[in-house]
Amino acid sequence: MTKVLTANLKNIFLASEMIKKGKVVAFPTETVYGLGANAFNPSAVALIFEVKRRPKFDPLIVHISNYQMLELIAKEVPKDIEKLIQIFWPGPLTVVLPKKDMVPALTTAGLPTVAVRMPQHPVALRLISLSDTPIAAPSANPFGKLSPTRAEQVLKGLKDKIDLILDGGPTPIGIESTIIKEEDGEIYLLRPGSISVEDIEKIIEKKVKFREIPKIEAPGSFPSHYAPSTPLFILKRKKIPEKLLGKKIGILAFSSKPDYGNFQEVKVLSEKGDLKEAAKNFFSYLHELDSLNLDLILAEKVPKKGLGMAIMDRLKKASQNKFI
Ligand code: TXA
Ligand code: MG
Repeated sequence: MTKVLTANLKNIFLASEMIKKGKVVAFPTETVYGLGANAFNPSAVALIFEVKRRPKFDPLIVHISNYQMLELIAKEVPKDIEKLIQIFWPGPLTVVLPKKDMVPALTTAGLPTVAVRMPQHPVALRLISLSDTPIAAPSANPFGKLSPTRAEQVLKGLKDKIDLILDGGPTPIGIESTIIKEEDGEIYLLRPGSISVEDIEKIIEKKVKFREIPKIEAPGSFPSHYAPSTPLFILKRKKIPEKLLGKKIGILAFSSKPDYGNFQEVKVLSEKGDLKEAAKNFFSYLHELDSLNLDLILAEKVPKKGLGMAIMDRLKKASQNKFI
């Protein structure tokens, strides 16, 4: 039986006792809910992969609550990365650094580097410090499915696979952290996220370079990525193709109710056209649309600046890059 408990101090303490015993626990961060285990305990980390049915070659992010923990896991911190974490930690910035031997190979999928972030959510920070260990945590969804921004969504995806979900309400940011790496004096963006490229460039006073996390090469085994169960398409223009007439369609619009097409359900990401608000609602609205037994979900594009870049990245993944 999976228990969902309010994230008060007593229950965070209970969760930390479970982490210490090598169990996994779902908890809120400021971005999305995470599925955490002691990052130094390989059998605990193995449980994360098992519960999520995540392939073992997909490395995890290690969450810390103070700088001593950073020293335990990372060999060195390049100058630009140091500047960035001083500004953005605690917060939704993940940095990839050379790892120390303390970090088990399973946590980093055998890579010589470790992805680290100090989250900003009080529940996450309290859980890590009471557990007295860095916590490895991917998003708390089954592999390939939508990331959860609410405890109910975690429960839906991982019911009876974990013992405890700490419920800290909806996550304030709603989209995963930005992942960066330094190489030969350059900063590379590995995953766009809730800290924008523009924000990073202001601090390091140079351009960020782009490089995607290498795609997992396993033909046939992963039909979907961050995807709803209902087919999702991105609209090339604000018009519904004729072949879709008569279908039960849900639409994820950007800033206003569509004046085209007939929709079973309409979700507007942000009436104000505010990308922050849109990011916060993004996964939540997709979860809702996905639960309505629609024939398909259509999504409008969002402006590709600031947080819009992260939203478009997730939309492309959720639709498997299908435009209509
Ligand atoms: O906001 C977030 O980052 C959330 C919350 C829970 O912190 N976590 C999250 O984790 O999104 P996950 O596992 O869903 O995504 C982590 C990404 C994966 O794409 C993984 O391949 C990449 O980080 N990653 C982890 N370690 C890496 C490394 N050493 N080098 C490159 N990429 C790495
Ligand atoms: Mg994930």
